[in-house]
Amino acid sequence: MERALLILKPDAVQRGLIGAIISRFEQRGLKFQGLKLMQVDEALARRHYAEHEGKSFFNGLVSYITSAPVVVAVVAGKPGTVELVRAMVGATNPAKAAPGTIRGDFGVDIGRNLIHASDSPESGERETAIFFQPHELIGEWNRSLDGWIYE
Ligand code: RTP
Ligand code: MG
Repeated sequence: MERALLILKPDAVQRGLIGAIISRFEQRGLKFQGLKLMQVDEALARRHYAEHEGKSFFNGLVSYITSAPVVVAVVAGKPGTVELVRAMVGATNPAKAAPGTIRGDFGVDIGRNLIHASDSPESGERETAIFFQPHELIGEWNRSLDGWIYE
């Protein structure tokens, strides 16, 4: 299974969009392996966004992601799931994100873009390990409608 980590960022939680956003992934047929509400501390934020350290927006990004609770989730599916999830999320800047994407439907500002999604299968594994303990994940579970989603 290919996995992506999602973070429903503080603005998504504050705006009451948890259900609306999670629904999209459920409706698409992706399977959740983990799901929880949590507060990200500064150390975790810096570790998660290490690739952006030193960039002009880094401190603002750490402040944003630590400013209020987030919902983190792991979604899994066939190879290609990470690309599919990124397409659902839309462009980094919501002002440029296509309508129909999460950022394109709910956001306007790059600093309030509602959701994070892993950008590669390798990032998906790395980020899953950062945010979830193994016992918090359910790796394989059967859903009776799987055969109606995957041929
Ligand atoms: P994410 O990691 O949150 O899923 O977003 P992304 O891949 O679409 O974008 P990335 O380049 O990884 O940037 C991470 C987050 O940093 C903020 N950002 N601000 N002001 C700016 O120019 C700027 N650029 C990036 C955004 O919150 C972005 O999601
Ligand atoms: Mg990114």
